[in-house]
Amino acid sequence: MSAAAARPLSPLLLEVREGLSRVQKELPSKLFYDRRGSLLFEKITRLPEYYLTRAERTLLATRMPAVIARLAPRTLVELGAGSADKTRLLLDAMRAAASGAGVSDGTYVPIDVSAEFLRETTTQLGEDRPGLRVLPVVADMVETLALPRALPRPALFALLGSTIGNFDFPDATALLRRVRDAMCPGGTDRFLLGIDLRKDQRVIEAAYNDAAGVTEEFNLNMLRVVNRELDADFDLRAFAHRAIYNAQAHRIEMHLVAQRALRVSIAGMGVVCFRAGESIRTEISCKYHRASVARMFAKAGLLLEEWIRGTGPAYALALGSRAA
Ligand code: TRP
Repeated sequence: MSAAAARPLSPLLLEVREGLSRVQKELPSKLFYDRRGSLLFEKITRLPEYYLTRAERTLLATRMPAVIARLAPRTLVELGAGSADKTRLLLDAMRAAASGAGVSDGTYVPIDVSAEFLRETTTQLGEDRPGLRVLPVVADMVETLALPRALPRPALFALLGSTIGNFDFPDATALLRRVRDAMCPGGTDRFLLGIDLRKDQRVIEAAYNDAAGVTEEFNLNMLRVVNRELDADFDLRAFAHRAIYNAQAHRIEMHLVAQRALRVSIAGMGVVCFRAGESIRTEISCKYHRASVARMFAKAGLLLEEWIRGTGPAYALALGSRAA
């Protein structure tokens, strides 16, 4: 620890130190998404066991055109836009509604922590949708929701991919509260949330324990990121991926389990000891049902207006408005 006194600890190192000193060790899930991690995640979304992405895409393609025709949003604000792959379905519906009304294609505000991802998305959309105005915002939605001023209204805010499940209830509610505060009072702004629903726990566990081992690789990649970013010496072969459904808390938890007792050193932080079988929790993914979404919306000052779900594996889109 003596070397640590020489220079100030980075915010990331402080966060990692805090997480690894808990009884249940934890690492922040943002450490998943370096370039390699983002590519592995894209691979997860195409796995046969990972039903979430396909279920959501089906709902967006089949059910949202009618909703968008009715709401006629002039702006789409997407939180955690990533590669904006499924977003195109919403943008297409907006364009169709706009051309019917004889107005321009509208404005798209993708918000993401990865500037690189955003740049690629903006360039790509500029090429295939010259009529669309794209205003990218580099920001961590966990911290703030700073939007460009004077956005055309109504605006549709979207948080897709079951991302809300990766927050515990207080953090999820706080995030939705920020969205609610960005919506026009008494207006026609709406919020669209993609949610994975509670179901047979074997189906959920399979989605996070795929046979090809991609999720395992994705989970272990986090240790690679820690080794590189924080000059640590995690031995990746000493950890195993485990995803376990916690039925009481209605959530699946991702862990990395030490296969033997070991010591890991992290620069500026010292040595972290693991007992055999001790784990690091890297992610949670909470599963909801209609009543729990309505409760979360109410806590955030939102009203659950529409509950859209299909016939496939239980997944839903919730549409909310700002409560009076
Ligand atoms: N939002 C995704 C989810 O909760 C994130 C995710 C999918 C994930 N697979 C994962 C996170 C595996 C950690 C490990 O489903």
